[in-house]
Amino acid sequence: MTTKKFLSSKATCNSHGQDSSYFLGWQEYERNPFHPISNPSGIIQMGLAENQLSFDLLEAWLDAHPEATSFNKVEGKESVFKKLALFQDYHGLPSFKQELAEFMGELRGNKVMFHPSKLVLTAGATSANETLVFCIADPGDAFLLPTPYYPGFDRDLKWRTGVEIIPIRCTSFDGFRLTRPALEEAYDHAVKQKLRVKGVLVTNPSNPLGTTMTSSELRLLADFIEAKAVHLICDEIYSGTNFDSPGFVSITQVVSERPHIADQVHVVYSLSKDLGLPGFRVGAIYSQNDLVVATATKMSSFGLVSSQTQHLLAAILGDKEFTRNYLVQNKTRLRQRQRQLVSGLRSAGIGCLPSNAGLFCWVDMRHLLRSSTFYWEMELWKKILYHVGLNISPGSSCHCTEPGWFRVCFANMTEATLDLAMRRLRQFVHDISTETLSPQRQLGTTTIASWVRRLSVSSQRIRVDHLPR
Ligand SMILES: Cc1ncc(COP(=O)(O)O)c(C=O)c1O
Repeated sequence: MTTKKFLSSKATCNSHGQDSSYFLGWQEYERNPFHPISNPSGIIQMGLAENQLSFDLLEAWLDAHPEATSFNKVEGKESVFKKLALFQDYHGLPSFKQELAEFMGELRGNKVMFHPSKLVLTAGATSANETLVFCIADPGDAFLLPTPYYPGFDRDLKWRTGVEIIPIRCTSFDGFRLTRPALEEAYDHAVKQKLRVKGVLVTNPSNPLGTTMTSSELRLLADFIEAKAVHLICDEIYSGTNFDSPGFVSITQVVSERPHIADQVHVVYSLSKDLGLPGFRVGAIYSQNDLVVATATKMSSFGLVSSQTQHLLAAILGDKEFTRNYLVQNKTRLRQRQRQLVSGLRSAGIGCLPSNAGLFCWVDMRHLLRSSTFYWEMELWKKILYHVGLNISPGSSCHCTEPGWFRVCFANMTEATLDLAMRRLRQFVHDISTETLSPQRQLGTTTIASWVRRLSVSSQRIRVDHLPR
């Protein structure tokens, strides 16, 4: 039996955030994962922002460049294996940092230059965000975050640092845009609670909205952090997923016009989304604040990127023709997939916030709630998870202030699976709307389970051509 005796308060407290419906949905998926052949009525994972759409491009590159992964000794040359195995420099491989800096510039249309000396490598954006919070704030200090926000931030920003998150309440009334009154309200709220505000953190493009921030929102943020003398962390992990206009504008572009606030602004990046490599754990902090760079570099020794990974990625990113082509093709595929989701939802009578980036849509199911409360949002979520067999993320897990919004991911599955998910949803909405009962009256579990099975089996027959090989 596990005992809490003699353990730290971190080990025994419940502030990690893993009891959020966001993570609970993942657990349920793990228990009954959909597979087109072996488990066609299983749960389809639509709560995971993973990009699997362009894997074939990376694999084709690897096939064409076996030397990038091979450690075979070349006559007269230093052994690559030995060089990487003995590599001890915490600052990262210079070749990789150079390529990553250039790639980050490329993602921003080369409108801004990134210098490798201002880059700190981290084990993913998760570590980058936490490291920045450690550099900027002390336990009990506060960060302001626009809602809805990525559910992982409760863990990443608060758990080990002891920092508080104060929500900046954005609403559907303004298309969830950031407004000055909302920013000021959040700041005043923190002050009333006697919290010292140390910064604002935004994701651009937004997770979960799938939208890019406008230049005027970015200027508003710049004005705000200047006036309040606080920091700004911009998590730009989705910068390469901007598949539709308007184009992505990075905070670094705004800062280049306002050098006096440059040392208050820090960018987070990672290869988890744009290149679809979350397992490699490659992230970065980019900052013009020398002390932040120095401190984050020291801290990064607790979450380094292995030299072998850096070696491979330096070769991939160094192939400029490949990366340019990859980014274009990846965006085209994301756009097609997003359109497939939007039209599938539309055919079920469900709308979503217009989006132009990301791996998900922000979906409006307010009309399916029995009443506009978070209780009924959770009831709908459970029904969609257990009966319809789709794991989506309820807005409440993203701290949305309005019940009835859900984040639905579209890039971690095949076209056929997305098609099936939409057919399940359409059938569900049809069944509840043709019932004389209200939408939230429990449908018989057996009835639903049987139509989930029926739909799944027929899809298996029709769309075998789309099954993964
Ligand atoms: C906004 C945002 N930041 C950070 C992360 C974590 O990324 P990584 O896998 O690079 O740690 C995610 C992952 O979903 C994310 O959406």
